[in-house]
Amino acid sequence: MVRTHKEGPEILGIGVAVRDIAVLLDEFPVPDEKFRAKGLFEAGGGPVPTALVTLTRLGHRASFCGVVGMGAAGHFIVDSLDQEGIDTHGVVFRAGFPSPTSVILVEGGRRTIFEWRQYDLPLSFDELEAKQVPFEDFRFLLVDARLPEVQIEAARRVRGAGGKVVLDCGHPRAGVEDILALTDVAILSHTYPRTLLGDSYDLEGFLTDLAARLPEDGPRIAGLTLGADGCAILAPDSSFVRVPGHKVTAVDSTGAGDVFHGAFLHAFMGGSSPEEAARFANAAAALKCKGMTGRSPLPPDGEIWRFARSQ
Ligand SMILES: Nc1ncnc2c1ncn2[C@@H]1O[C@H](COP(=O)(O)OP(=O)(O)OP(=O)(O)O)[C@@H](O)[C@H]1O
Ligand SMILES: [Mg+2]
Repeated sequence: MVRTHKEGPEILGIGVAVRDIAVLLDEFPVPDEKFRAKGLFEAGGGPVPTALVTLTRLGHRASFCGVVGMGAAGHFIVDSLDQEGIDTHGVVFRAGFPSPTSVILVEGGRRTIFEWRQYDLPLSFDELEAKQVPFEDFRFLLVDARLPEVQIEAARRVRGAGGKVVLDCGHPRAGVEDILALTDVAILSHTYPRTLLGDSYDLEGFLTDLAARLPEDGPRIAGLTLGADGCAILAPDSSFVRVPGHKVTAVDSTGAGDVFHGAFLHAFMGGSSPEEAARFANAAAALKCKGMTGRSPLPPDGEIWRFARSQ
């Protein structure tokens, strides 16, 4: 792979890191029956780690900070990042902490996720400072609102030194408002407004409210991913746009949102407008859906752009 970055930190990600165990099925199970799986896959997961994997595959330098347990699952999660060339020296191995694990049933391109995790992640900002994470050196910080105290302090440091903060979040949760106040690019999942407002909400109105929560000294990009329907983006300097998704024969949509965020950031860092970056991200995420797990192979940048422009 051609690495386009110069030496030095580019993107820091802080968030939950997961071990995903995916079972590929012909039909969705009913209770008290026995089913034959078509395949069993184990891969690293979590929104921030998988977005960082996407970024490194597209030629960037990424570092990850988070917490895992000391057992085999924790080592598996960290190995899955090391193998992709992500700097993991900011990961804390915590005794007695069960590494978050998801069992994912995949059928007909859809995924049903069973999360097994301790809700509060045991990690403090002091621990990252002790590891000498160079917050001030990163151009971007990617967060998931799962570690609000740590992420708020990290966001202050990164923004204070001129960097930008990107948020991916699936559901409203404690601390998210404070994170939004430090976020430059907030692209949430469609599950977020659905949890907050129910199934019928005004998409443009929701994004207008979201953009208004972002700091005035940033680009103030607000977006929502909409599954196979693509995404919607609102930036103050451009009008509201719906960017349609790309038609693919989806095998597994696990991690599509994570790949979307990595790909969006890649295009945005390369100078694309938010709308163009969203088109690229839709294409990358759709191509991901052709393979199993969030870490399925991704074609090179040029091929993704061709696919993005082909539809
Ligand atoms: N079936 C699909 N076909 C094509 N593209 C898809 C499909 N599902 C998802 N995508 C792409 O992936 C992006 C993210 O999907 P989605 O909105 O489902 O993310 P999410 O809710 O955050 O889920 P997760 O984080 O688990 O992937 C969409 O904006 C779209 O570009
Ligand atoms: Mg998501």
